Amino acid sequence: MSGAILSTHGLIARYGDFQALYGIDFEIDAGEAVALIGANGAGKSTFLRALMGLLPVAAGMVRMEGTPIGGTATDRMVQMGVAIVPEGRRLFAGMSVEDNLRVAMDQAERLGRKGGWSLQRLHDLFPILKEKARTPVQSLSGGQQQMVSIGRALLCQPKLLLCDEISLGLAPKVIREIYAALPEVRAQGTSIILVEQDVGLAKQASDRLYCLLEGRVTLTGPSAEVTRDAISQAYFGGSHAVV
Ligand SMILES: Nc1ncnc2c1ncn2[C@@H]1O[C@H](COP(=O)(O)OP(=O)(O)OP(=O)(O)O)[C@@H](O)[C@H]1O
Ligand SMILES: [Mg+2]
Repeated sequence: MSGAILSTHGLIARYGDFQALYGIDFEIDAGEAVALIGANGAGKSTFLRALMGLLPVAAGMVRMEGTPIGGTATDRMVQMGVAIVPEGRRLFAGMSVEDNLRVAMDQAERLGRKGGWSLQRLHDLFPILKEKARTPVQSLSGGQQQMVSIGRALLCQPKLLLCDEISLGLAPKVIREIYAALPEVRAQGTSIILVEQDVGLAKQASDRLYCLLEGRVTLTGPSAEVTRDAISQAYFGGSHAVV
């Protein structure tokens, strides 16, 4: 067994009769950032959901620090140190920024997770969250909401942070701000799986990447070394023109 914080072998996931993942082999080491790229519908969110226990693992193995955990309930995954910034953010509408964050702090406390993240540290990372502490989340901009969503995951004190398209729909300046926070997260020793549609950004922000196509891994390698051609091929499949 390698020193992976999390690994999967032959992971299969389904939605009813529809098979979304066809045997994913994946691993991520402690402190590593791994990007997951691929076209719409490739299975990226499904993979994160399966890791987080939000979707059953139909077959295959998931290990966390060597221990098999496939199909573990979400609360237990949080307890083991996995947190997700979900697709579409999923904040509690009608609640303030701080109350949203407190839900995560309470969850971490209930599950006995301890770590270095506090409201104070989060405010240092994203100062706007302090300024907007009493503001209902639905009045925030998309970028500010994304910061709350990231903050909520960090307050679960994760060893492994799953980020599902944290740049989606945001202005370039805000994307830069959000991505600038990731090195600080990693400095805590937290590993990051980054689902990202922007391939350039995905490469920049990761050590290694995986490309999914129709539920299968079509490419994996060090982000600095995979070529544009290889990515294009893996992203669209065999015969598609290189963009
Ligand atoms: N709740 C669901 N019920 C049935 N099928 C689903 C469900 N969610 C996703 N799928 C299907 O599973 C496949 C993988 O979807 P998934 O959302 O994981 O893709 P993705 O790579 O995250 O795409 P995107 O970039 O659009 O977010 C797609 O064919 C999708 O239509
Ligand atoms: Mg998705």
